[in-house]
Amino acid sequence: MNTKQTIAIIGATGNMGSGISKKLSNGNFRLLLFANQLSKLQTLEAEILEANPSADIEVTACPTEASWEADIIILAVAYPVQQQIAQKIKEVANQKIVISIANPLNDTYDGLVTAPDSSAAEELQKLLPNSKVIKAFNTVFAADFAQPVIADKQADAFIAGDDQGALQTVSELVVTAGFNPIIAGALKVSRTLESMSLLLIQLNIKNNYNWLAGWKILHQ
Ligand SMILES: NC(=O)c1ccc[n+]([C@@H]2O[C@H](COP(=O)([O-])OP(=O)(O)OC[C@H]3O[C@@H](n4cnc5c(N)ncnc54)[C@H](OP(=O)(O)O)[C@@H]3O)[C@@H](O)[C@H]2O)c1
Repeated sequence: MNTKQTIAIIGATGNMGSGISKKLSNGNFRLLLFANQLSKLQTLEAEILEANPSADIEVTACPTEASWEADIIILAVAYPVQQQIAQKIKEVANQKIVISIANPLNDTYDGLVTAPDSSAAEELQKLLPNSKVIKAFNTVFAADFAQPVIADKQADAFIAGDDQGALQTVSELVVTAGFNPIIAGALKVSRTLESMSLLLIQLNIKNNYNWLAGWKILHQ
């Protein structure tokens, strides 16, 4: 029998957070939802329960308490906020999986604010040295959650991290979210994954893909 895991989603009402929350609410998880604005959280909660009355979800008022209760923490927030939240949850995130979905874009969306020898995920790991930081979901667009399919195939979602067990657990989350998980490598591979997203964002802006583009590895 699988024990139900509790997942705290910080930034649950955002473009990405709401997509992740809605998809994971269909899995065997208890979800603790946190964001800034309570009214938006209540709207999200109502939408999820309307689609799935048996969803095990709870709106929470504090990211630290939610993270304390959780087995897995998803930071579905902008990079600077990710770093702020990390300071708040540091004491309660020991040995837990913490997922960074952030693309640390600059203000003009044509570069990353992290140093070339680092990434948003590695900067998070520095702040949470006793947590299992995993990079996931950063290479997909929020709009892809509605239909995570490219050329009739499940869109890929790349994952990076240093803990093998945590990579497997997050792969299963990615499947529940509707994507095809590809473990790309160690946490430092996040540098590549975040640059891949920068490229896709730039191509999207240039070619007007309507934010419905994604990655698909094709091989024989
Ligand atoms: N959008 C995409 O397609 C996409 C794709 C891949 C990765 N990402 C990455 O995903 C992350 C989120 O992007 P997004 O587009 O979903 O952003 P978004 O729509 O602006 O959502 C941000 C979320 O963070 C919450 N938030 C803001 N400040 C907070 C704080 N101080 N404490 C707690 N929660 C806070 C917001 O809550 P309130 O609304 O209540 O303020 C909202 O729920 C970013 O790092 C981005 O790089 C985005």
